[in-house]
Amino acid sequence: MPEPSVRPRNDLRQYDDLADQWWEPGGRFAALQWIAASRGELIPPAPAGGGMLLDVACGGGLMAPVIPEGYRHIGVDLVTSALVQAADHGVQPLVADATALPFGDAVFDVVVAGEILEHLDDLDTAVAEICRVTRPGGWIVIDTIADTRWASFSLVTVAERFPGGPPPRCHDPELFVDPERLRTRFAAGGVEMRLHGLVPAPIQYLRFAATGRGRVQMRRTRSLSALYAGLGRKHPPARNGPVNGNGTKAHSW
Ligand SMILES: C[S@@+](CC[C@H](N)C(=O)[O-])C[C@H]1O[C@@H](n2cnc3c(N)ncnc32)[C@H](O)[C@@H]1O
Repeated sequence: MPEPSVRPRNDLRQYDDLADQWWEPGGRFAALQWIAASRGELIPPAPAGGGMLLDVACGGGLMAPVIPEGYRHIGVDLVTSALVQAADHGVQPLVADATALPFGDAVFDVVVAGEILEHLDDLDTAVAEICRVTRPGGWIVIDTIADTRWASFSLVTVAERFPGGPPPRCHDPELFVDPERLRTRFAAGGVEMRLHGLVPAPIQYLRFAATGRGRVQMRRTRSLSALYAGLGRKHPPARNGPVNGNGTKAHSW
């Protein structure tokens, strides 16, 4: 098997090469673990009686510990070695492409798409699919990387060489995502997406870089020039007021 470093950029086989890293504290996916924790904070409580949550490109299932109680957590991904681990952590796994989700319209209360949009050749179709499977009044949580020189430099040229940074050749900067384009595509799917930047807490990151240990919190920033996250709501049905269709209180930004 070739070493991960000789794979082409954004090659799915890297996730097989690194399959033992998903849950490794201080491993190659450490930053994904930190980002998953901050992503979990954006997920609203489950509706009374339970909710359906889709984790698009769930990888090894790092969202599992941070999904609020009451959701059925379904994960799709193209890499079986990752889905096996997601299943071990309680995710209901399904092999599927983010650009062709095998679900009916308006099925999910929440759709999460973390660190996937910047890996796709067909971003617009994936966003349309995410919007399609979200129910009116439902929520979408995303994070991705901006198509800026700064993101390319800081998150590829530099971070791939640093502890906690993405694995070498994980990203293809050509696929990084313009925040305005993303907002527009979500709006076309009936979703108002509000975005904020994310950066690792500096002291915690320095400690991690020095020791290879310790969790690093992701902090919000206004800048959308590198890593950024978003919470969107699909337009609720008319006359729904502040209470959603499942009889639970609406989540707010
Ligand atoms: C950077 S990882 C993020 C995994 C997970 N969302 C997380 O944050 O821990 C990207 C994931 O996207 C998956 N992936 C890439 N292209 C995909 C596609 N077209 N459809 C579904 N999954 C895909 C990969 O297999 C990998 O598990």
